[in-house]
Amino acid sequence: MRRGGEPLGADRVSGDAWKGRDVISILDFSRQELESLFDTANGFVGPPKPRKDLADHIVATAFFEPSTRTRLSFTTAALRLGAKVIDLSPDVSSILKGESLHDTTKMLEGYSDLIVMRHPSEGAALLAAEISSVPVINGGDGSQHHPSQAMLDLFTVRRLKGRIDGLTYSVLGDNRYARSATSFLYGLTKYKPKLVYVVSPESLRPRLEITKKLKELGLRFELRSDLEQVIGLTDVLYLTRIQKERFPDLNDYEKVKGSYKLTKEVLSKGRSGISVLHPLPRSTELPYEVDSSKSAAYMTQAHLGVPLRMALLLKVLGGGKA
Ligand code: NCD
Repeated sequence: MRRGGEPLGADRVSGDAWKGRDVISILDFSRQELESLFDTANGFVGPPKPRKDLADHIVATAFFEPSTRTRLSFTTAALRLGAKVIDLSPDVSSILKGESLHDTTKMLEGYSDLIVMRHPSEGAALLAAEISSVPVINGGDGSQHHPSQAMLDLFTVRRLKGRIDGLTYSVLGDNRYARSATSFLYGLTKYKPKLVYVVSPESLRPRLEITKKLKELGLRFELRSDLEQVIGLTDVLYLTRIQKERFPDLNDYEKVKGSYKLTKEVLSKGRSGISVLHPLPRSTELPYEVDSSKSAAYMTQAHLGVPLRMALLLKVLGGGKA
């Protein structure tokens, strides 16, 4: 369909650059567009009211990788706006008979008005967007992008802190393979954080292509290995699990597994107002004992996925059939 950077005609003039747009990477969106998304999402927070904005629309979810939050919050968001949802279950579809991503996408474009796709291969959502005449939202492609998660994460920070600029962030965990961490860092390039500490064991530092991009976009960041050195300076701690499934060699996973953990004791060394975000699911890096801390914001974050994705669907689908 249509991506950022392409001519937008009258849309750009009216400030509404969202309609019909593919959502492949958060890098494709301007700060102004993100702020307008968050303003819309704010209106959907709180007790749900029945809405019919998307009553004549069908949203397709196509998840070729496991998902709880992304798939279900997109589904809930669509249903709350009155849309209908069809779900491609790869394990009971013709993909098992060898159907290609090309042909599956061609089918979904004929059956729906928007496709949300998650796939283990980098670039899969972009490929689908090139094939499809209806917009495609990338629900995560391999270890590359997860734009709606990054939008949700920034929205959560804005709600918790009242701003995204001027804060100190620590992004702790698998900064090599976690698309959520990369996308969050890419999202921060749209703002002006005071400083971003990118904290991980050496083998989980961001790939060169990521640090190159962050530098090119002028993000103020430092690579660190020890959370305890920076937690006292941190306003927002963004934590991810080690993405075991992405390691080309499991021996390398074995070497780093369990290498970092946010215990209550470590957290007690942080600022009193520190907020802890995590895209979930968690593994051993985030023990349940942290849940009772007033800093634990990850459940709120997960729940804000519904209003944020309502706003996203509404903006892309434009609230009426084109
Ligand atoms: C993440 C993902 O799938 O990238 N989960 C999510 O969408 N909330 C994070 C992860 O799997 O660790």
